[in-house]
Amino acid sequence: MKYTTKHDRVWNFSAGPANLPLSVLEKVQSDLLNYGGSGMSVMEMSHRCKSFDAILENAESRLRKILNISDDYAVLFLQGGASMQFAMAPMNLYREGHPMEAIHTGYWTQKAIQEMKTIGEVKVVASADAEQGFRKLPEVNESMFNPDASFVHICSNNTIAGTQWQSFPKVGKAPLVADMSSDILSRRLNIEEFGLIYAGAQKNIGPAGMAIVIIRKDLAEQANKSLPTYFQYASHIEGGSRFHTPPTFAIYVAGLVFDWIDELGGLEAMEKLNQEKANLLYGALEESSLFYSTVEKTDRSLMNVVFRAEGNNEALEAKLISEATAAGLTDLKGHRSVGGLRASIYNAMPIEGVQALVEFLREFEKKNH
Ligand SMILES: Cc1ncc(COP(=O)(O)O)c(C=O)c1O
Repeated sequence: MKYTTKHDRVWNFSAGPANLPLSVLEKVQSDLLNYGGSGMSVMEMSHRCKSFDAILENAESRLRKILNISDDYAVLFLQGGASMQFAMAPMNLYREGHPMEAIHTGYWTQKAIQEMKTIGEVKVVASADAEQGFRKLPEVNESMFNPDASFVHICSNNTIAGTQWQSFPKVGKAPLVADMSSDILSRRLNIEEFGLIYAGAQKNIGPAGMAIVIIRKDLAEQANKSLPTYFQYASHIEGGSRFHTPPTFAIYVAGLVFDWIDELGGLEAMEKLNQEKANLLYGALEESSLFYSTVEKTDRSLMNVVFRAEGNNEALEAKLISEATAAGLTDLKGHRSVGGLRASIYNAMPIEGVQALVEFLREFEKKNH
C-alpha cells in the first residue's frame, strides 16, 4: 500500500524544513513566472518595488492580526535563522551586572545557552534531566527567577526531545525570551507575556533562510548601541525589515501561510486541529504494544511526536523507517543526536496524513509481533 497524495506527494513528517500547506504551494506555482501582473517572479523583483511593498505589508499585518500583536512590539523578518537569534538576543538584551537566566530543556536550549555565555554571565535556573533524555520539563515558579536578570530564555517546544510548555513559566519582572521555532502559530498565544519571541521559518512559517522576531520596542531601544549596526534589532526596526535585502521569497511564502491560517479560522482553529492530530497519534502509541511515546504525558508536544520501539529495538525502528518511506510516509527518523523515531506534525500536516501514519503503524505492528 502506498499513501501518496495529490501531485504524487508523500506524507512528509520532517522536523524541518517541513511540509507546507498544499494550497500555498499551488499558489506559489501559479504566481511563479509572473507575480500579479508584474511580469516577473517574486525572486526577481526589487525589495523596494511596489509589488514587494505590498507583499511585506501583507505578511506583517496578517501576522499581527493572527497573533494579536500590539504596536508596543516590532515584527521583523530577518536572515540567519534561529541560530543567529541565539546570539543576537543576548547581544541586544544583556545588561552588564544583570546575569541572563535560562531554563535548560534540551539540545536547542544548550545551543542558546552556549551563545549567551559568549556574551555575558548566565545562570541556568532549572534544567530537565539530560540522562532521562529531557523527557520531562522541570518544575519552576516565579520565586526562582531574579527580577533584575537581563532576561530569561526558554524554548517553547523542544523539537528533539518532544516536550512543549503547556503554559509558560511565570518569571516575574525580567523579560521572557522564547525560541518558538517549532511551535509558533500552532496555538493561541498571549504576546504580552514575552519580551522577545523568535522562530526559524522552516517549520510552521515557510521556506528556510529566515527568522521571525517579535520584540518589545522598548527592549530594542535600550540595547547596546556599540554593537555592529547589523546586529542591533533597532537597525532592522528602523529599516522596516529592509535594513538590507531581506529574504524576499521567504517573506512572500510566509505571507501566504499567514493568509491560510487566517482563512482557516486563526490560531483557535489551528490549535484545535493540532490537538486532534496529536491525540490521534499519541492515542495510537498508548494502545500499541510495539511502540511507546518517550515523553511524560503532561509535557507532550503537539508538534513533534517522539517515540521508540519497545526495548529500544533499533533494528525494528530501522525496518519501520524503511517500510514507511516505501509506503510514502517519510522522515520518521529521530534526530541524529538521539535516534529513535519522530513524527513532526506541524500546522501544514493534514489530519489525513496522521490517519495514514496511524493505519501504517497498526499494520506494521500486526506483521511484526
Ligand atoms: C527549537 C529550535 N531552535 C532552533 C533551531 C535552529 O534553527 P536554525 O536552523 O533556523 O538556526 C531549531 C532547528 O530545528 C529548533 O528546532
